[in-house]
Amino acid sequence: MIHQETAIMLVEQINKELYSGYLYMAFANFYEGRKLSGFAHWYMVQAAEEYQHAMKIRSFLIRSGHPVALGAIEKPNTSLNDCGDPLHAALKHEQYITASIETIYGKALEVKDHLTVEFLDWFIMEQAEEEASAQKLIDRFELIGCETGRGLRMLDRELSQR
Ligand code: FEO
Repeated sequence: MIHQETAIMLVEQINKELYSGYLYMAFANFYEGRKLSGFAHWYMVQAAEEYQHAMKIRSFLIRSGHPVALGAIEKPNTSLNDCGDPLHAALKHEQYITASIETIYGKALEVKDHLTVEFLDWFIMEQAEEEASAQKLIDRFELIGCETGRGLRMLDRELSQR
């Protein structure tokens, strides 16, 4: 049985994961506008992953017999100017998601909800990967910068292979 308090937090996490996908779609749209279709593709793949994260949590709750009442998804909070802005915003957002998962994990431990603790193990690992991958992209991008030179085009082509 999932504890009532963690179940409520997990339903909220579904919303955060769907919002993440919506945010990444906004990043993809930003890059489409700058003719960087590889970056756009990268973030659309990321958006699809976020949808899968939401579905994973939904299935867990449904399997355990918990109702899943969905709330509204907020408008993506973006103020993007420089072509590196989404990369930094993505890392910041993933750090926020990691903190959110860790808060639920902490609550599950506190109320001895072992089922949720075990379920969230995968998300803890996934968040470490998400943050590392967002940081790696920033590191690579910072060697190149925004000028539409050969380096940026090469990175764009590479990202289109994801
Ligand atoms: Fe589902 Fe990128 O965290």
